[in-house]
Amino acid sequence: MAIEPRLYLDFGVDDIADSPPSSWLPTPEAEYFIDMSPVPDSAMRPNGAAPPVHGATGAILSPTEEKKRLRLTHLPKRKDIKAPFPRTPGSVDPNNPPWPAFRGYHTYSFANATMGHRLPTILGKAIDDVIVTLNQESSEDRIVDLVECIERMEELKRELEEHAKLRPVIDDGEADVALWNKEIAKYFLGKDFMNATWLFAEAYKYRRLRECFSVSKFWQGYDVFFRQKCDTFSRSSDAVFELSMRFAEQFKHEQTLSDVEKVEAERLMFMELSQGECVCLWGNSTDLSLLINMTEEQIKSLQSTGGEALAETEKNILGNHMERLWEIVKETKERGSRMLNGQKEGSSGPGGRIDFVLDNAGFELYCDCFGFSADFLLQTGYASQIRFHGKRYPWFVSDVTMKDWAWLLNTMTYGHLFPNATPEEMESLRRLGRRWKQYEKEGKWIYEAHPFWCTGYTFWDLHKEAPDLFLHLSRSDLVIFKGDLNHRKLTYDCAAPASTTFEEAIGPMASASGAPKVCSMRTIKSDVVVGLGDKGDQLAERLDKEEPGWKISGKYAVILVSEGRPGEKVFFA
Ligand code: F6P
Ligand code: MG
Repeated sequence: MAIEPRLYLDFGVDDIADSPPSSWLPTPEAEYFIDMSPVPDSAMRPNGAAPPVHGATGAILSPTEEKKRLRLTHLPKRKDIKAPFPRTPGSVDPNNPPWPAFRGYHTYSFANATMGHRLPTILGKAIDDVIVTLNQESSEDRIVDLVECIERMEELKRELEEHAKLRPVIDDGEADVALWNKEIAKYFLGKDFMNATWLFAEAYKYRRLRECFSVSKFWQGYDVFFRQKCDTFSRSSDAVFELSMRFAEQFKHEQTLSDVEKVEAERLMFMELSQGECVCLWGNSTDLSLLINMTEEQIKSLQSTGGEALAETEKNILGNHMERLWEIVKETKERGSRMLNGQKEGSSGPGGRIDFVLDNAGFELYCDCFGFSADFLLQTGYASQIRFHGKRYPWFVSDVTMKDWAWLLNTMTYGHLFPNATPEEMESLRRLGRRWKQYEKEGKWIYEAHPFWCTGYTFWDLHKEAPDLFLHLSRSDLVIFKGDLNHRKLTYDCAAPASTTFEEAIGPMASASGAPKVCSMRTIKSDVVVGLGDKGDQLAERLDKEEPGWKISGKYAVILVSEGRPGEKVFFA
């Protein structure tokens, strides 16, 4: 009979790959006890090691075959020993981010609320949407097919509620199937909706929702969120016309301005459009996935009063590299001008290429098209081409798909969404729509949807898992990531200290050879917060005390820039 003492600590979960911040643990007072029961020889491994123990307790084997509990009250007090974070690059993987991961089983966390409550609610509402469609359908074949989609959604909802294990994705011909199933097999085998990392489990849910339709005969392209996304635009008429009435005309400087004054005017405009009231940044404070239980009136009041109040001051932008961003945009134009003077071949203008990794459709997309990415930078020559990156299928409720993109431009140009608008307001919107569609025709605006954006991988793995996309982005002068989810993916969605620099937090997207300049523009709507500067940890601690919930309210924001390693040769291991 072999005897091998082992001491185990029960965290009440089957996965202690990393430990969450102590406040999330059910009770840190985990009981230590030593199991004195023997392990029979037949159970020993060939190398003499004891068999793995399942469950919480460990065993010290005693010849007396007697079970005794030792309460360790007479031993020294447990020391507050911190695990070494960040993990070394070699030991980072999707289930083990550089700092402790957020997981659904962390009681009282936003991850827990999302996995346990928000996602089932979102699915329930999605089923309601499909039922509306079903009731409007007349063909029996299509009805039967759609009923099967609903059954698959109900099964997914059950799995989510019962914390089922994550199964591989069915091969429905999508370009991301192999990536999904590789990640599940390598890092999440046997994991369920609650003990997989929150980011992965949440993304997986949207992939499974996609599957409910992609395996159908008639409904492969169905978007359960489409109606809601369109609604955000049609319900935002005041803000929509406020912008269209100002920007329908091409941007022109007053004749009297000197060159220096013109640049200053452009700088101010850039700032206003990017971080000002209601545009670009703050357009992100109210995405649909967070508004699942709000009435139309509540959404309106959030957009009009909350947004304005928030945007009034920059002090809510806790990490703000806006000035540096403007410098980058300016440098791009200056570089372009120098190259043009030196007869840069095939160049359409002095401005550079800016990539915009989109977030939400409808009203937010409309704001983005004014803000950073689009209209203004093209008109003023700071950019000559904008590449928009959207999703291939419905994602995190409100994210932009190709259909949302086309819908916005077409409804602006031809639609009748706003029955109370004046003819002047409608004309301003149509003019804008026509101009933006013209940009598309001329190849100045390009919409792309790489499969990688709809995977569970974070952007730390973009270089490794989507080398073609990395190479493509490395050719950009600036890549702007919009929104909360993109920020979570850039930063590996883990509990990094708030003073962590943005460069460190985004890993290879900053450090890989050829990494482009990157900007993340996000209202803070989930736990990961980095880039708050040297005093960031104290600031975060203070807000934790004074404003619990500050990390999910959308009241605060960051605009962070990484310089990357542009111009260096990209290579892959
Ligand atoms: O479900 C949580 C979440 O993923 C958060 O990251 C965020 O609150 C929301 O969904 C998506 O936000 P955004 O549209 O800004 O990426
Ligand atoms: Mg989104």
